Amino acid sequence: MTFRKVDIIFVVLALLVVGGVALLPSPRDRNPKVPANSAHQAVTMEKDCLACHVPTGARPLPVQHPKRQDCLHCHARVQG
Ligand code: HEC
Ligand code: HEC
Repeated sequence: MTFRKVDIIFVVLALLVVGGVALLPSPRDRNPKVPANSAHQAVTMEKDCLACHVPTGARPLPVQHPKRQDCLHCHARVQG
């Protein structure tokens, strides 16, 4: 199989698009981070987050908050 010039241009463009998308900021970077205190570091399972982040808990979620259980998908842990 022989490569034509147009094939190489296509491959280069495809790589640029994939690389560009990969570098877009993740929405996770903009959401509030999970605080790095002991209460949060003790939690290893996402369903345990709801011990406090329920309407009757220590820190209820805002009314507009997404009703999803994969908390860490959107909230990164603070590094350190
Ligand atoms: C022991 C109770 C408790 C548990 C369990 C808990 N949280 Fe929290 N969380 C709090 C309290 C209290 C605050 C607000 C005060 C603070 O910043 O510590 C808070 C604040 C937050 C904030 C907001 C930080 C900000 O900048 O406003 C996020 C995001 C958060 N928690 C996510 C989580 C996630 C994700 C989990 C599960 C891994 C979790 N929490 C488990 C009590 C808890
Ligand atoms: C789809 C993405 C997404 C998921 C999944 C998600 N959150 Fe959030 N969360 C957000 C966004 C965006 C905000 C900021 C909302 C705002 O500022 O109005 C937020 C805000 C918060 C806050 C701060 C509220 C405050 O008082 O300022 C806490 C606490 C929190 N989320 C906890 C959780 C927990 C616990 C879970 C899992 C049950 C979870 N989040 C799942 C996107 C998400």
